Amino acid sequence: MQKQYTFIANWKMNMSFSQTLEFATRYYDNFLQLATETNQHIILCPSTEALFPLAEMFKETQIAIGAQNCSKHSPGPFTGQTSAVSIQEVGCQYAIIGHHECRKEFGETNNDITNKAIHLLDYDITPIVCIGETKDDHTKNKTLQVLEEQLSGLFKALCGSTVHSYLTPYIAYEPVWSIGTGKVAPVDHLEMVFCWLADYIKHHCANISWKLIYGGSVSLENPDKLKQIVPLSGFLMGKSSLDFQKIEKIVKSG
Ligand code: PGA
Repeated sequence: MQKQYTFIANWKMNMSFSQTLEFATRYYDNFLQLATETNQHIILCPSTEALFPLAEMFKETQIAIGAQNCSKHSPGPFTGQTSAVSIQEVGCQYAIIGHHECRKEFGETNNDITNKAIHLLDYDITPIVCIGETKDDHTKNKTLQVLEEQLSGLFKALCGSTVHSYLTPYIAYEPVWSIGTGKVAPVDHLEMVFCWLADYIKHHCANISWKLIYGGSVSLENPDKLKQIVPLSGFLMGKSSLDFQKIEKIVKSG
């Protein structure tokens, strides 16, 4: 049987509300056909204001909707934030957290990201936890050290309990030096990182069945090669996901 991969479209803040609805409406049938034909898992992550209409549009279809972030707090006086419970109520099943752009822009810490994951899981929303080292860390051979720092608190918080063991959250390895640069990390580097991640999970968080995905300049040229990496089960797409034809080719590749 063909392996089922997950393809996540992170549209970021690229499209306005009306552009997002227009894109989703125009390609609605194509998205459904693509998911059915290929039996691959597709998650669309629009910005917050478009979550409800898109979740309604794709309700009871094979296309899932995810948020691009969520608050680290429970509901309360937190201006400009979106709670995990609201994300659940509008019909999302997933939420990206810890994306490099949020870590950088809002100063999110590993501890914040752990709290976000806890809130999401409390509302049965599957977290897509982004991790990755900067170019500087990479050059100094600190990749694994950084990834361990990004994961250790999360694993300590989640993995002792059996409460969330039925969910299959994602860890998205996105080297910062690959995001939006057109440079995909070399396959041997990714092979090393994903094997290390699989092993790290085995030793520190085996009661949760994490899925490992890659993000950073995923394009038409690379999914075939990346699919050779055994622990890899999906892709987080930024720029490519703004073009349906590209999504289609990426999903069908390999
Ligand atoms: P990119 O973005 O595909 O444009 O590099 C990926 C991401 O930021 O998730």
